[in-house]
Amino acid sequence: MHIGILTGGGDCPGLNAVIRAVTLALINEAGATVTGIERGFLGLCRPAMRPLRVPDVEGILSLGGTILGTHNRCDPFHYFGANGGDVSAQAVATLQREGIDGLVVIGGDGTMVIAEGFARLGVPVVGVPKTIDNDLMHTDRSFGFDSAVAVVAESLDRLATTAKSHGRVMIAETMGRYAGWIALEGGMAGGADVILLPELPFSVEAVAEVCRLREAREGDTLICIAEGAHALNQEQVVRARLADSPEPVRLGGVGQWLAQALQPLVGSEVRSTQLGHVQRGGSPTPFDRVLATRFGYHAAQLVRQGQFNRMVVLQGDVCTSVPLASVAGRSRQVPLDHPLLAAAKGLGLSLGQPAV
Ligand code: F6P
Repeated sequence: MHIGILTGGGDCPGLNAVIRAVTLALINEAGATVTGIERGFLGLCRPAMRPLRVPDVEGILSLGGTILGTHNRCDPFHYFGANGGDVSAQAVATLQREGIDGLVVIGGDGTMVIAEGFARLGVPVVGVPKTIDNDLMHTDRSFGFDSAVAVVAESLDRLATTAKSHGRVMIAETMGRYAGWIALEGGMAGGADVILLPELPFSVEAVAEVCRLREAREGDTLICIAEGAHALNQEQVVRARLADSPEPVRLGGVGQWLAQALQPLVGSEVRSTQLGHVQRGGSPTPFDRVLATRFGYHAAQLVRQGQFNRMVVLQGDVCTSVPLASVAGRSRQVPLDHPLLAAAKGLGLSLGQPAV
């Protein structure tokens, strides 16, 4: 058996732990040959691959990023290269030429769309869910999320001490794309006073009211806002606050935007920090190392059992799998009945909702 492994889309802590687990399990339990495909699907369009043997994956468990490299724009079905267009047939021919019988594809929803396309062309594929955003369908957790939440929590801890010293309103903008998972868990773990999510459009006035009440009592306010969050009346607020600016919204992210919108409405100084790619870099947390290892091991089991065209998922504490087609191109937001939202409200935190 000869299996190729690739990492697609943005990088994420824990990718190397999956590569290691898949490689070791396939070699130890199936005597397989394993090949690493470099820079995601680009390594199939402009062939670039290398053998993965036991020594090649030693010492990479705790390493951030991906030893194989990745590419977040390369799609062989819509290739951007000189001879662009659909080059998937050439990619399949490359796999056949190399004697690769199947693929383990580690990536997010976009990567799973491509993986599913290869499955339809007859390439046996197993998917492994990767994203710091935790927004993939059917899996309660994707690896990388815990590491990102840890960065947000530590950043909020740091921002809290400087906010307190100056009596400021301090805003931290997290990643997360269209979902609020990172902001919600990171905000809770870091003790934010206000948590703003894409799932719950916020009122700038409601946030300002929280800041003013806190100013009257203790001075500082810690706000954790997801990059995909937006105000209920964002367009109007922008027009009012930036009336003389030709640029509409999100100069430097929604956190920066909120800082500009809030400043005239509160007494204290407002500062904003975009946490950005710091959330994606560095070593995975122990939780993510274990989850990535479980996912990698389960992917190797699926390969050994010939159960292809499926993606590994975590449901409760059980590693299982679902059809690739059921996750490809789909994502999941925080449900409005999520217990953490109820806990946040119960603790008196603000989710930026106007008083009814
Ligand atoms: O999906 C992971 C993610 O980090 C998102 O949270 C973020 O919106 C996006 O990728 C950033 O992508 P890029 O690395 O292309 O700037």
